[in-house]
Amino acid sequence: MTMSITRLDAAAAARQRLALIDLLVDSVEHGASVNFVQPMTREKAARWWEGALLSHARGERVLFVATADDGHLAGSVQLILAGQENQAFRADIGKLLVHSSARRQGIGAALMQAAEAEARRLGRTLLTLDTETDSDGERLYLKLGWTRFGIVQGYATTADGTHRADCSFFYKQV
Ligand SMILES: CC(C)(COP(=O)(O)OP(=O)(O)OC[C@H]1O[C@@H](n2cnc3c(N)ncnc32)[C@H](O)[C@@H]1OP(=O)(O)O)[C@@H](O)C(=O)NCCC(=O)NCCS
Repeated sequence: MTMSITRLDAAAAARQRLALIDLLVDSVEHGASVNFVQPMTREKAARWWEGALLSHARGERVLFVATADDGHLAGSVQLILAGQENQAFRADIGKLLVHSSARRQGIGAALMQAAEAEARRLGRTLLTLDTETDSDGERLYLKLGWTRFGIVQGYATTADGTHRADCSFFYKQV
């Protein structure tokens, strides 16, 4: 199956709303540490995406999606532009999500490469992110040349709610 990576404008993002909700629910149900604790619900995911899509429509973030040739949404990532006047060259990477049925096929890496290229184009040459320590996300960022500059112990409750996991903080100059 071939996959295309697309930057969505506000209208296209609104059309993908339900698929984006599904993607977030799927990730949390499969244990991803992306700010939610199970049980994950469509209501929680819808509330989160409502805020994110409003922010996207205001031009505060860039949204890329990976779409399979059958039209299914397989992944997404956001480039969140720092709003501070003195950090106009920085952005955060947020909510990199690949559907559990589509992992280990290079989609996460392709989404990250698209986000990094867009950051360069926008002059956002310093990128930052954080992710659960020893997670698939951490392995991906290390492979893509990100620098881990610290680990905070017990930073966030795991998706299954059992304990507090460590969090790794990364940056990359692009
Ligand atoms: C992290 C995530 C986005 C990776 O997406 P993906 O499409 O499976 O990643 P890719 O196939 O592009 O993997 C690229 C590289 O990352 C590393 N990697 C990714 N998943 C891995 C895993 N399960 N085990 C070991 N290495 C892994 C490998 O180096 C891999 O390269 P390789 O396949 O040639 O060995 C995906 O697992 C996911 O959506 N997880 C849940 C959400 C999440 O945790 N997001 C990050 C939050 S900050």
